[in-house]
Amino acid sequence: MKRQVLLLISIFCLSAVIGQVSYSIPEEMVKGSLVGNIAQDLGLDVKRLKSGKARIYTGDSVQYIELNRERGVLIIKEKIDREVLCRQTTPCALHFQITLENPLELFPVTVEITDINDNVPVFQKRERGFEISESAVIGSKFMLEKAIDPDIGLNGLQRYTLKPSDNFLLKLHTQSDGSKKVEMILQKPLDREKHEHMSLVLTAEDGGEPQMTGTMQIHVTVLDANDNAPVFSKPVYKASVTENSVIGTLVTKVSASDADKGSNGEVTYVIGNSMDTVSKLFHINSEGDVILDGPIDYEKEKNYHIDIEAIDQGGLSDSSKIIIEVVDVNDNRPIVNMISTSGSVPEDSAHKTVIALMSVNDPDSETNGKVNCAINDNIPFEIKFTSNNFYSLMTDSDLDREISSHYNITVTCSDEGVPSLSSSVTLTLQISDVNDNAPVFERSSYEAYIVENNTPGLSIFTVRARDADWNQNARVSYILEDSSVNGVPVSSYVSVSADSGVIHAVRSFDYEQIKDFHFRVKAQDGGSPPLSSNVTVKILIQDQNDNPPQVLYPVQTGGSLVAEMVPRSADVSYLVTKVVAVDVDSGQNAWLSYKLQKATDRALFEVGLQNGEIRTIRQVTDKDAVKQRLTVIVEDNGQPSRSATVIVNVAVADSFPEVLSEFTDFTHDKEYNDNLTFYLVLALAVVSFLFITCLVVIISVKIYRWRQSRIMFHSNLPVIPYYPPRYSDTLGTGTLQHVYNYEVCRTTDSRKSDCKFGTAGSQNVLIMDPSATGTMQRIQSEKSILDEPDYPLEVRK
Ligand SMILES: *[C@@H]1O[C@H](CO)[C@@H](O)[C@H](O)[C@H]1NC(C)=O
Ligand SMILES: *[C@@H]1O[C@H](CO)[C@@H](O)[C@H](O)[C@H]1NC(C)=O
Repeated sequence: MKRQVLLLISIFCLSAVIGQVSYSIPEEMVKGSLVGNIAQDLGLDVKRLKSGKARIYTGDSVQYIELNRERGVLIIKEKIDREVLCRQTTPCALHFQITLENPLELFPVTVEITDINDNVPVFQKRERGFEISESAVIGSKFMLEKAIDPDIGLNGLQRYTLKPSDNFLLKLHTQSDGSKKVEMILQKPLDREKHEHMSLVLTAEDGGEPQMTGTMQIHVTVLDANDNAPVFSKPVYKASVTENSVIGTLVTKVSASDADKGSNGEVTYVIGNSMDTVSKLFHINSEGDVILDGPIDYEKEKNYHIDIEAIDQGGLSDSSKIIIEVVDVNDNRPIVNMISTSGSVPEDSAHKTVIALMSVNDPDSETNGKVNCAINDNIPFEIKFTSNNFYSLMTDSDLDREISSHYNITVTCSDEGVPSLSSSVTLTLQISDVNDNAPVFERSSYEAYIVENNTPGLSIFTVRARDADWNQNARVSYILEDSSVNGVPVSSYVSVSADSGVIHAVRSFDYEQIKDFHFRVKAQDGGSPPLSSNVTVKILIQDQNDNPPQVLYPVQTGGSLVAEMVPRSADVSYLVTKVVAVDVDSGQNAWLSYKLQKATDRALFEVGLQNGEIRTIRQVTDKDAVKQRLTVIVEDNGQPSRSATVIVNVAVADSFPEVLSEFTDFTHDKEYNDNLTFYLVLALAVVSFLFITCLVVIISVKIYRWRQSRIMFHSNLPVIPYYPPRYSDTLGTGTLQHVYNYEVCRTTDSRKSDCKFGTAGSQNVLIMDPSATGTMQRIQSEKSILDEPDYPLEVRK
């Protein structure tokens, strides 16, 4: 150490004497490069260098430069790096001495090392990351790393650049030590949603030639902030759902996007309608599926407007709307309402008479609600669309109650949906009767038979007419039409029961007076106006053997005497006389036969059975009496037969005086006397009987009146009203009404009967009987008790 310090002092002293040599070389010269010709610069001969054993003295320092003694030059021995040698010191120089011996000389040499740009600016780390919230405010500062460039001066670090420079600016602050602080300043807001990651390149440049740069990667990660509200994909969503869809049906899907990340971007959906109906019918899940929650009925609501909201975790939201159209399904049958119906229409109603009005409604829409109505076939009605869902039911053709008294009209309304729905209503329409049918007799004409001598009031037979109408319009009354029979009104012959059509004989007919007659019966219904028809009834009277034969010859005179003369010379089979008789009856009843009933001498005369001729059957002899008396009976062939007797006086004489003397006692005939006596006795008996009867009747009446007056005095018994005779026969047509009034009197012998048809007023018998036939039967039974023979009633068809 002591030596070195001494040396340094001596060098200093020497150089001060000899002068100084300096060189300037750039750093990094290759080995062997020439630094300078030191021999020349020092003014020394090369030989001197050799002889003086010139050498470089650097002390302890590294020897970068060596001396070439042969050439007397300094050359680079070791590569010199200025930055190692001097760092930032400037100027940078190598100081050494060249020493010579013999004589000892010292020459200081200074070699200045100049900088060359051999260093690149270098960042300590190749990259750097930042996490910056997007909500960072403008002006926020971020410290960056400095670069290092060991070169100095221009070759040293000159400036920084940051690229891209969209969001950040570089700012350099010169610090007190001369170094620079590099800061990155936010000049434009970050948006994670646009650029979540940014790569910046920070470049450090020096000023050398050529320029050298160093770079560093800066990675900026933008951290999310809830700066974005969710956004629905559409302002309005449209969807449709068919009615009656099952609960749980997905109606539509909505989506809202949130540009934010993580929880800031998590969206939940809410139905905003506070209206209950909507929120009860739909719900929306976290995926944005709108799901049906309740029953949907097109007929109640045709569309729904749902306000929806999307909310992120940060509370930001967006709203949108869903319009849900309800699609109709044919789920409603048409409803048929009868607005007014007439339960019945008259059968003569005009065509197109409206019988019912109905309204038809189908709440479905379009074809599902389009309704067509029809009625069942084969009925005389039609249905017509009037207007606006109204239909009218009207008659289409003629109605006839007699064919169909009611109709079941089924109105079927069906819509046009697929499948179609329908409903029907049945209406029962009564057809009310109109008097459009006249009564019709069962036969076009009638013929009836009645045996003469009938009981008055006897029912002959019944006519019947039918009326196809109903009730009152079909109530047939029978009326006897006025006409005359032999100049007498027909009503005095027959009567017709108005209700039953029973034809009664009013009088007892006599075949011998009238054999037949005809009249018309009218059947009239109870309609208004009434309709009628008529029929001809022919009554044929049948003969009865009610007339005895009448002897026309010989004439029966009371007192005078007629006798037939038979000469005694008369031969066998001499025609004495001929009994001539007639019978007004007809047929068998008028077929007469003659018989000899009594004769003075039965062996002398005979009567022709058929012709009534009286002839002798033997020769008249002288012994035969002059006075011959024959009783001839004339009988008819009726059942029972009737007869008449005639007395024929025959005088068997040759001269008239002879006859006279014999016939004086003829008038006092024994037989005649017998008859007279019989009649006298009978008359006496009848008179006595009548007297006693009258006496009994008078006494009975007296007693009855006395009792009656006492009862009337003490009680308030109802007075039996008095009806005038034939009171109900007001029309006087001879038609029998409900009341019959007969008095029938008969003796046991009808041949000598005396019958009076109930003369009015003789006795008041009031028979209130609703059915005429009842009364009639009663009369008939009376008759059969009274009459010995039963007259057959014959109605020939
Ligand atoms: C109408 O309906 C009623 C009751 O349903 C039935 O008794 C009647 O026979 C029907 N009439 C016709 C003409 O079909
Ligand atoms: C009776 O009926 C016929 C038709 O059958 C008619 O021509 C005539 O006028 C009717 N007579 C009376 C009196 O009504």
